[in-house]
Amino acid sequence: MCGIVGYIGDQDALPILMRGLKRLEYRGYDSAGVALIASGQVATAKSPGKVAMLETRLDLLPAGSPCGIAHTRWATHGAPTDENAHPHVDCRGKIAVVHNGIVENYVELRAELAAKGHRFVSETDSEVIPHLLEEYGATDDLLSAARQTETRLDGAYAFLAVVADRPDVVVAVRRASPLIIGLAHRANYIASDFSAFLDATNRALVLENGDMAAVTADDVTIFDSTGAEIEREPMTVNWDVRQAERGGYSHFMLKEIMEQPEAWADCLLGRIQNQSIEVEAMGLRTSELTRWQRVQIVAAGTAYHAGLVGKVLLENLAGIPVDVDVASEFRYRRPLLTPDTLVLAVSQSGETADTLASLHLARERGVYTYAITNSVGSTLARDADAAGYTYAGPEIAVASTKAYTTQILMISLLALALAQARNRARPDLVAQLGLLPALGEAWLAQSDSVRDYSELLAASNQMFYIGRGMDYALAMEGQLKMKEISYIHAEAYPAGEMKHGTLALITEDVPVVAVSTQPDLAVKLRSNVEEVKARGAKVFAVIDQSQRSAWGQDAMAEVHPPSPWLSPVLAAMPLQLLAYWTAVARGEDVDKPRNLAKSVTVE
Ligand code: G6P
Repeated sequence: MCGIVGYIGDQDALPILMRGLKRLEYRGYDSAGVALIASGQVATAKSPGKVAMLETRLDLLPAGSPCGIAHTRWATHGAPTDENAHPHVDCRGKIAVVHNGIVENYVELRAELAAKGHRFVSETDSEVIPHLLEEYGATDDLLSAARQTETRLDGAYAFLAVVADRPDVVVAVRRASPLIIGLAHRANYIASDFSAFLDATNRALVLENGDMAAVTADDVTIFDSTGAEIEREPMTVNWDVRQAERGGYSHFMLKEIMEQPEAWADCLLGRIQNQSIEVEAMGLRTSELTRWQRVQIVAAGTAYHAGLVGKVLLENLAGIPVDVDVASEFRYRRPLLTPDTLVLAVSQSGETADTLASLHLARERGVYTYAITNSVGSTLARDADAAGYTYAGPEIAVASTKAYTTQILMISLLALALAQARNRARPDLVAQLGLLPALGEAWLAQSDSVRDYSELLAASNQMFYIGRGMDYALAMEGQLKMKEISYIHAEAYPAGEMKHGTLALITEDVPVVAVSTQPDLAVKLRSNVEEVKARGAKVFAVIDQSQRSAWGQDAMAEVHPPSPWLSPVLAAMPLQLLAYWTAVARGEDVDKPRNLAKSVTVE
């Protein structure tokens, strides 16, 4: 939710900041801006729209500034306009700030500052920050002013501040929203995530909640929430910059769909040995596995859908009852959490505010928490009792694909590990997990038929996705992908439930995607498909190999799972491609769908 990037070093900051912004654009892209320090001035450029628009407005910026901050926005307060775009400045234009998150008490602060004569030009909550900094004398002592400002702000946020006369320092403040400092040769970077500076360094300091940092070209001083200077250990990620770039693909989403078999192999690496699960390689301890009698999954968006698949896997393979909650609902439903519950928080970014809040609630109740995330060093990973990484590599497209299938893989590993610890080991399934990367490769190599069918779907205004059991969970993800990027209204329904009302909506203009990868449910599902076909619906089916003869005449994609329990990982791919090619056929901006952002760090 908003990307922030800062640079201070011995090179021209502007092109570096622009590159960083492009890589962070997945966090929000309704407007963008940059501020540079040069010749005792703060020079800014801003634009509504994407970073590419901002690029057309950089002419008046000075060249050769060694220090600057930049921002790509996902609007919370105020429409995407020039005025509301960051960086925001104080009354004299001497202090510039970029901000991610929400200042919850901005109305009171704004009134207080306005009464003192401060002039506001935007509708944002963020603009109070440079004015508070001004009020506290930032032009004389930026660090001290930042400290005083921080005590006045409520909410979850991160911000960077620079002042006109100090091209030698950027101050960074983190409270809940992520912020990391990339450590390079004679230069330092400050950004919302690693991808902003991967071309320069993969070594970084992760700021903790409440930290403030004074960053110069060759030094970083960090203070904790008490104001005491503190050392933070640098960490290294093994992502390289090519993973965060598009390669030859027309969109990140397509690249990330195609990368899935490799991501699955990376996710499984070292976690399977002689047909059993290496529990420690998942960040857990074997001795703990018998302790849990319930699992509570919390997640948002696509990760929630991975949790729904996970429920079926955990209950059936490990024999443990599972609840799955949308994170934004979980904390407000006053959940009953018993001490023998494992709270499993699933999140690609590890920074989703609602998922973090759910995790914190569980921790306050003294319940053991395990994070499944793609982001090494993320808040979720650090705040949970234990973390298992999906190792899918950077996922840039807003619509999640490889993160989803690796989340399912991680939950499959967890289910099999729990089964192992409860004398229900399934060595057959453990071995079959290892077959998935090759099966995925083979399927992708012949996936063109999905594209043909998508051209038909592109003309639709609404669609249904149906399935039973795990296939219904998968249908939920299929419809979300379609909605997110093609803007066709799609709804997932348990196939057997259609006739209890929703069948009324089926006409020949409402296509139905049927997911049928569970042989034991295939006959029932087939009957439901006949019901929609009888009402004129055109059907596209995602099936497993055992059902080929029953579906002979229908448009379909066939996957070859080694076991029905493992079919979701493979069957997700045709659903992803169906949404992808439909959005392409409709001419939509696939990687940056309207109104959305990849990392949602506000509640
Ligand atoms: C946003 C993204 C979704 C994602 C969800 C949860 O809404 O657009 O693609 O599934 O956040 O994100 P997380 O990082 O917690 O998995």
